Amino acid sequence: MLADKDRIFTNIYGQHDFSLKGAQARGHWDGTKALLEKGRDWIISEMKASGLRGRGGAGFSTGLKWSFMPKQSDGRPHYLVVNADESEPGTCKDREIMRNDPHTLIEGCLIASFAMGAHTAYIYIRGEYIYERKRLQQAIDECYAAGLIGKNNVHDYPFDLYVHHGAGAYICGEETALLESLEGKKGMPRMKPPFPANMGLYGCPTTVNNVESIAVAPTILRRGAAWFSAIGRANNVGTKLYGIAGHVMTPCVVEEAMSIPFKELIEKHGGGVRGGWDNLLAIIPGGASCPVIPADQCEDLIMDFDGCRAVKSSFGTAGVLVMDKSTDIVKAIARISAFFKHESCGQCTPCREGTGWMWRVLSRMADGRAQKREIDMLLEVTTQIEGHTICALGDAAAWPVQGLIRHFRHVIEERIDQYAANPHPEPVAAE
Ligand SMILES: Cc1cc2nc3c(=O)[nH]c(=O)nc-3n(C[C@H](O)[C@H](O)[C@H](O)COP(=O)(O)O)c2cc1C
Ligand code: SF4
Repeated sequence: MLADKDRIFTNIYGQHDFSLKGAQARGHWDGTKALLEKGRDWIISEMKASGLRGRGGAGFSTGLKWSFMPKQSDGRPHYLVVNADESEPGTCKDREIMRNDPHTLIEGCLIASFAMGAHTAYIYIRGEYIYERKRLQQAIDECYAAGLIGKNNVHDYPFDLYVHHGAGAYICGEETALLESLEGKKGMPRMKPPFPANMGLYGCPTTVNNVESIAVAPTILRRGAAWFSAIGRANNVGTKLYGIAGHVMTPCVVEEAMSIPFKELIEKHGGGVRGGWDNLLAIIPGGASCPVIPADQCEDLIMDFDGCRAVKSSFGTAGVLVMDKSTDIVKAIARISAFFKHESCGQCTPCREGTGWMWRVLSRMADGRAQKREIDMLLEVTTQIEGHTICALGDAAAWPVQGLIRHFRHVIEERIDQYAANPHPEPVAAE
């Protein structure tokens, strides 16, 4: 178990004072100026050396991403944009940072912006997070009042931080759709290239990072890259906020070491699977877009990027959804398909048409009202969506269906047999 001394988020459960005074008492905003005085290059190389991989889902090296920003401005301003959209079903970690430990994020915004030559940063927060927005704004106001940020601040680096409230669309979590939305347009993903580091917000060099990626940076720099990279295993290092939801006894968000065995995570922090470990059917390890992992592969599963990839799934945001044997797995994945259909922005034909098509077929399959040959047809359609769209929502919609067929084809077939033996009109699964 992660030792208390190694925790970055010391108020994740909101038991202590979230204000600036409380945050400073817990060691935040300590020696920030001295960190900035070490210079941009030092900060970026330390972040690279720490091995931190982005916590928004894709796991790209944070230090490397920062290094893509131009060293000198060509006259255009640089921006940091923090992705606080957190709309992936099963993911609820960033909200705990924003409502209970907001100063980790604000200090991170100042340091990351400094490292990238940005004097302005935006936090784009999910529309439903009203309480979190208020808390965050309160903390930002405190920092302005204390002269920690603002035009003339104690760090001698002019810096403004704005919170921008989204309107509750999942697609606005995709970084380029987020930028469009921030500019006041419809949240529709942009084609890449150009990448945001060259042409992002208002056509200027921009870096988009997840809340957790930014919030851990100050502690990494204070304690050193070697400390962070010693936690976990090679290529998968540091501490991580895990979400544990679904059929467990004590759903929670917990900061743990990367590469913790799945069983340990669930039993120590989630209170175990409802009805005992043998009652586990499957999990979705990191948000709704990650393919399901059946129970027999969870026994030795290592919770990190490589561990989840080894079982043909992905670590995503580490928001684990646990499903026990009472779950109708076909219906569950059909429900996830309904979500992606609803959230598709509609720009690309494979995603716009394919998400609805997959949902309709899966809804029939959940009732058994299908032909067995349609299972392969469905699989084929997922491969026509995957990799053929502007943004990764298409992939995100295809992967859960692929996972279902890979591991639970027999359940779909049994359902079809049962229905054939006893046909009965069933309502289509509700969207
Ligand atoms: C459909 C879609 C939704 C996404 N939603 C989020 C989100 O809510 N929060 C987030 O941090 N990243 C989200 N991402 C990933 C972002 O595009 C981006 O990769 C991430 O913010 C980069 O931050 P990181 O490098 O710190 O992980 C989403 C991606 C896609 C395709
Ligand atoms: S993949 Fe889907 S959500 Fe993404 S741009 Fe295309 S239609 Fe929009």
